[in-house]
Amino acid sequence: MRSKLLEMLIEQQGEFVSGEAISNSLNCSRTAVWKHIEELRKAGYKLEAAPRKGYRIIHQPNLLTENEIKAGLVTKYVGKFVVYEQTVSSTQEIAHRIARDGAEEGTVVVADEQIGGKGRLGRPWFSPIGTGIWLSLILKPKIPPQQAPQLTLLTAVAVIRGIESAIGVHCDIKWPNDILLNDKKLVGILTEMQADPDQIHSVIIGIGLNVNQTSFPKEISDIATSLFIEKGEEVNRATILHNILAQFEQLYELFLEAGFLPIKQMWEAHAITIGRRITARTISGSIEGFAKGITDEGVLLLEDDFGTTHKIYSADIEFNGTKL
Ligand code: BTN
Repeated sequence: MRSKLLEMLIEQQGEFVSGEAISNSLNCSRTAVWKHIEELRKAGYKLEAAPRKGYRIIHQPNLLTENEIKAGLVTKYVGKFVVYEQTVSSTQEIAHRIARDGAEEGTVVVADEQIGGKGRLGRPWFSPIGTGIWLSLILKPKIPPQQAPQLTLLTAVAVIRGIESAIGVHCDIKWPNDILLNDKKLVGILTEMQADPDQIHSVIIGIGLNVNQTSFPKEISDIATSLFIEKGEEVNRATILHNILAQFEQLYELFLEAGFLPIKQMWEAHAITIGRRITARTISGSIEGFAKGITDEGVLLLEDDFGTTHKIYSADIEFNGTKL
């Protein structure tokens, strides 16, 4: 009910909403409305109450709890169930557990802080409190397990489009799934799966998006960035998240109906890896060559200087020289 109230106030963009309109729409008493208003104030919202006019919103805190996620969400099922925790080890761990216990497709797990945030290749993911979007999304697609990596590429496109539609900032994709802004990493995506050899039970997509950090630890300060650093102003996390989830649902439905090809084309339009000379550092060594494209599984095709094409499944990419 509180998220519905919040939605009504936010929709009016600072104009008054009468107490009567709120109590009618929420089907509750004027006293109950007042109690919800008080709760929102305690959570940091500045709300003005005026006799005969009602309530209006003056300031929204930059929160990302269940209320903010639900208020203003325009999706059918992605984000309809939200598990919010202030501090967790990793949202991936919670998502794995609840997926196993039968969580619905589209459920999102969001935390304000992760103290054991997981990145790709066993790396830690820096997830300080109140600054970023640390989220895991549970999917249960009826696709063969080998197609699951396509969902990582789909997610990268959804995140890029979501950021663009929310605040007009254009980002790039670096294979496989890093989203860069001005050549620094803004978003990381980690896809994990619960599956038998021939059947997916759940795909857990972890998204880590640096929104309002003003600085980074020195080990990563040369390679990481945030929307705040690049834009020079604070960005509302809920607005970004609503846009990402809306884009995700649209693309996911397209993918389930029409397959990977349209998603692949969108991914290629944002990718800065393809058509360049790169070095791919894999666990079995480095390969230098020309990035020719990706396969339908999202595998990178790298042609070395002897004309042999290598399939790269997992690697860190470094750019060498100029774009061809
Ligand atoms: C990468 O290394 O690029 C992937 C980073 C993924 C981080 C996100 S934050 C939300 C979710 N929970 C985690 O522990 N990791 C992912």
